[in-house]
Amino acid sequence: VHLTIPAENGNATSGMLYGLMYEDINYSGDGGLYAELIRNRALQGPNPDLTAWRAYGAGVKLNVDKTEPLSDALPNVIRVDVPATATGKVGFSNEGYWGIPVNTDQYKASFYIKGDYKGDIEVSLRSDVDGMVFATKDVAVRANSQWKKYTTRFTPTSASPNANNTFSILFDADKVAGKSLYFNLISLFPKTWSNSGTNGLRVDLAQAIDDIGGKFLRFPGGNNLEGQSPPYWWKWNVTLGDLIDRPAYPGPWGYVNTLGLGLVEYMRWTDLMDLEPILGVYAGLYLDGTVVPEEDLAPYIQSALDELEFLTGSVDTPWGAVRASLGYPEPWTIKYVEIGNEDNLWGGLPSYQDYRFDLFNNAIRSKYPDITIIASTPEITGTPAGTWLDYHRYDKPDHLTTYFDQFDNWDRNHPVMVGEVAVIAPNEPNKPEVEWTPGALRLAFPSMIGAVAESIFLMGCERNADLVKAVAYAPGFQNLNSYQWVPDMISYTADPADTTLSISYYLQKLFAHNVGDTTVPIVTTANFRPLFWSATYSKQHREYYVKMANYNGTSTDVTLDIPALRGGKATWTTLSAPSGHSYNSPRNITSKWTVTEIPKSGTGWTVTLDNLMIGVLKIQK
Ligand code: AHR
Repeated sequence: VHLTIPAENGNATSGMLYGLMYEDINYSGDGGLYAELIRNRALQGPNPDLTAWRAYGAGVKLNVDKTEPLSDALPNVIRVDVPATATGKVGFSNEGYWGIPVNTDQYKASFYIKGDYKGDIEVSLRSDVDGMVFATKDVAVRANSQWKKYTTRFTPTSASPNANNTFSILFDADKVAGKSLYFNLISLFPKTWSNSGTNGLRVDLAQAIDDIGGKFLRFPGGNNLEGQSPPYWWKWNVTLGDLIDRPAYPGPWGYVNTLGLGLVEYMRWTDLMDLEPILGVYAGLYLDGTVVPEEDLAPYIQSALDELEFLTGSVDTPWGAVRASLGYPEPWTIKYVEIGNEDNLWGGLPSYQDYRFDLFNNAIRSKYPDITIIASTPEITGTPAGTWLDYHRYDKPDHLTTYFDQFDNWDRNHPVMVGEVAVIAPNEPNKPEVEWTPGALRLAFPSMIGAVAESIFLMGCERNADLVKAVAYAPGFQNLNSYQWVPDMISYTADPADTTLSISYYLQKLFAHNVGDTTVPIVTTANFRPLFWSATYSKQHREYYVKMANYNGTSTDVTLDIPALRGGKATWTTLSAPSGHSYNSPRNITSKWTVTEIPKSGTGWTVTLDNLMIGVLKIQK
């Protein structure tokens, strides 16, 4: 196959084509990216229980107590009943999000206590396998009938070989025998990514997503924005401030969100990784199909306006002042707001089409005319020109490749954000499309053939850079101990040694690192399929990036010519795996990433594109 780049005069790319979609699903915030190590730290949720907690000491009992609330937001607390006969150290421990990793960095522990206790309380990290103590610290406590917070820092003397560890809080039995002590909001933070501090991000997971090199962050969902049923949706204003004031959010994915990863934490994340925020605002649709009627929608619209004022208003505005009071006097900039999420589903489209989109859109546009509005479905008609449409596609490999050219003939009045795209199921004879019925076949981890199909879809987006402004894989994260959706881009347990970067992860990284500011035409006599290609050029870096994939073809030599180019250093980066079914799983990475320099021969460069290989030929001017 012979490809020629005759000129650089293509369409401009958005500059933020590749990015991240994030929501708390699969314990991706709590138990994932949010670095908190204590699970069920404040017995939150409508049905509080003692999940992850264990009593320590003969006869010691733990209870969910509702009579001694720590705050309005955190009404349930742990009551530790100590028997009159108790001796030595007693207390309780937490097993974390299915384990607690221990390394030799500093940890920060804190807890609230109420009750009659004066003396040391020992916090420690110890092995659940053999009791080995990795760290212990005494906290001098003078507890009484008022809630008091204690914070301490400690550094383990050695790292644990695995994450089978617990965090314990122990006290002297003889000081409290026959009585009870109350505890709540028990927290343990390890070192966080890029010093993101309290409420910061887990180091290895944050590093992995930063390494992708994406340019935007779409948050807070996905379905997690919408909530399962009234009255729950992602209420941004209760995610602010001290953790003591953040109530539980029973998100739609079957577990309670602590909201420790709140709006401010998301914004800090975008700051630290230099990502463009794409903010989803709740638009009156619950996942059970409930829709807020038109006459009741005003407070929800006001909430979206308040959210924007909180983020972008000066300190002289009421919500800007709230932001400043939290330590952020400088306003953030929000350029993109998505109204809702998948409002064509769950019976939502008629109301979105009839009144919800317009009411939100008019209110936001009239106050913030510079913000680009994104409708959460491509199926709505009649939106003002310039409105972006959010397109989602979960598919099978063969079927996804058929969408390579779909954006070629799209209505150019409406730019597209591909907010979610992934191959989620294998090809099956006579079943070309994904089935959403329970038990339908799914991939456990992204496969090589799936990644090749995704690459073809992404090249279709790049070729239409005037139209497709942003594209993201979804979902991003999966805690392997409890999840609701497969496959996912990054999988993990509490033990960082299990963290698995999928083949689709590597595809995102490959493409995000190799995209220019302009698409460039490719002239050839060859037809697409089984080979696919697209090219961009970066004026800033003076580099061409020619992406290619081979979908079920034979190994093929591809020669690229750029007649106008005299010199040129070429690097060929490939992503491949032993077979189309191959996938990466914990401690078993099958995909291969190779980088080779390609010598110029004549006016061009020749590379070999094997079956089910993805490659990028980067040419520096
Ligand atoms: O990414 C998983 C889910 O898929 C998202 O929450 C939702 O937007 C879509 O249906």
